[in-house]
Amino acid sequence: MPFSVLVTGANRGIGLELTRLLVSGPKPADTVFATCRNTSDCKDLQDIQKSHSNLHILQLDVCEEASYPRLVQEVSNVVKDGGLNLLINNAGSASRGRELSVVTSEDMVQLFRTNCVAPLMLTKAFLPLLRAAAADPAFAGDVMSDRRAAVLNINSRMGSIDDNKSGQRYAYRTSKVGLNSVTRSLGIDLRPDHILVVSMDPGWVRTRMGGANGKIAPEESASRILTAMAKMTNQHTSTYVDHFGEPILW
Ligand SMILES: NC(=O)c1ccc[n+]([C@@H]2O[C@H](COP(=O)([O-])OP(=O)(O)OC[C@H]3O[C@@H](n4cnc5c(N)ncnc54)[C@H](OP(=O)(O)O)[C@@H]3O)[C@@H](O)[C@H]2O)c1
Repeated sequence: MPFSVLVTGANRGIGLELTRLLVSGPKPADTVFATCRNTSDCKDLQDIQKSHSNLHILQLDVCEEASYPRLVQEVSNVVKDGGLNLLINNAGSASRGRELSVVTSEDMVQLFRTNCVAPLMLTKAFLPLLRAAAADPAFAGDVMSDRRAAVLNINSRMGSIDDNKSGQRYAYRTSKVGLNSVTRSLGIDLRPDHILVVSMDPGWVRTRMGGANGKIAPEESASRILTAMAKMTNQHTSTYVDHFGEPILW
């Protein structure tokens, strides 16, 4: 059965490596949609596309909700009745300043919008396509998996209130805690549709956001994320896990 995936923020970092693995890894998807803010400045994606015609590069600023219907239509034109199997809400941003002295209300609102509101609203926009994928008769019964229909919200350890032992990072932490709440509710609300919803920490990764001291390369993070996702079943919906699929306290 066909397997289609959409990754946001796919032009660099973890999103780029997820895309690369999804088109050419050990279990390639049939169709991959890689979205980025600027489709005329995404050389790495364009290079991948040269040898993978199943990669579609689509424009998306996740904060521009008005563009969602156009995006959904573009995806729908390709997948048709098959729907979209996996939506990976990966795009995210972090503020430069960490300390209490530098946090601003604008920073709080901007990060909340990018890291929490956008994944929720984008999932809502893609619900008809996710439901269409979940309804494939090949998946009879109440079986959930990333291959059937799933939403993966890329979170962070900083989305854990329990794990917060060092303070600071008000805007980023708050936005990711909010994203966890979104995951929890979506998982419950979409259970009758057999759509799996998971929040996952990708690890501390050497990207522009994670910095040079990160513990793992983006390729490794992407590989662990997809391996963990492939193991997810009904019991994992509405949960918060690390990149090995192990639970993290909220
Ligand atoms: N790296 C880590 O150690 C780490 C740890 C925990 C969680 N995470 C999470 O992992 C995800 C990916 O991060 P990363 O490390 O790969 O960071 P990154 O290299 O900084 O990449 C961030 C990606 O998000 C995109 N993005 C940001 N705002 C956007 C918007 N409004 N619309 C569309 N795209 C937007 C960026 O696009 P532009 O190029 O256009 O800016 C870029 O493609 C994020 O959700 C992050 O919170 C990362």
